[in-house]
Amino acid sequence: MNFHVLTLFPDMITQGLNTSITGRAIENGLVSIEAVNIRDYSTDKHLKVDDYPYGGGAGLVMRADPICRAYDAVASRLDKKPRVVYMTPVGYTFNQNMAREFAQEEELVILCGHYEGVDERALETIVTDFVSIGDYVLTGGELAAMVVIDAVSRLVPGVLHNDESAVTESFENGLLEYPQYTRPEVYNGMAVPEVLLSGHHGNVDKWRLEQSLQRTKKYRPDLYEAYMERTKKDKA
Ligand code: ADE
Repeated sequence: MNFHVLTLFPDMITQGLNTSITGRAIENGLVSIEAVNIRDYSTDKHLKVDDYPYGGGAGLVMRADPICRAYDAVASRLDKKPRVVYMTPVGYTFNQNMAREFAQEEELVILCGHYEGVDERALETIVTDFVSIGDYVLTGGELAAMVVIDAVSRLVPGVLHNDESAVTESFENGLLEYPQYTRPEVYNGMAVPEVLLSGHHGNVDKWRLEQSLQRTKKYRPDLYEAYMERTKKDKA
């Protein structure tokens, strides 16, 4: 899978993702991440990429023309029109389902904004998906893009090794993950729950599901309700 990130801070993207599992995926050729510097597509003699907002107000707005030229440079190398994700608090909230959907794409373009935003006409011209990573405002879209790239990459076949992907994860069944323990058996006076040492897989699974349900109910009552609705329907 190939990511193409349109950004004013390409180093942030490439340096942030070249270690750990994403780094290994890049090295193994399963994933590629191209960071395209929007500034390289400015035609201004000072390489300006932003300007004052029409109508007044604080801050600067990223101009449409360098963004669209940067996009054209990427798109012209691809066989078909790619999906273009704009990272913005004004979008649908990113989740595991969205990550699964994006992981089906061969190419994904991600646009990162900065300053007070991006000229709406650039968005109208190139963007297919408006995606937020949560209800808070970042200084730019780069960290958000990295979040999306990380979550999507690990779903690309081969990126996770068996021992990494075998773990029943949060959201896989619509619930948050159960607690995990490793050696030593007693740490600081705290013992590993007895059932995990029992070797009885049925009981372990039952305990884990109970823990998942408890945690989901506490931290994410919305997910808990949805899970309960689904299981009710499945039983009916
Ligand atoms: N850019 C600034 N804040 C953001 C957020 N919460 N999600 C995605 N992109 C952003």
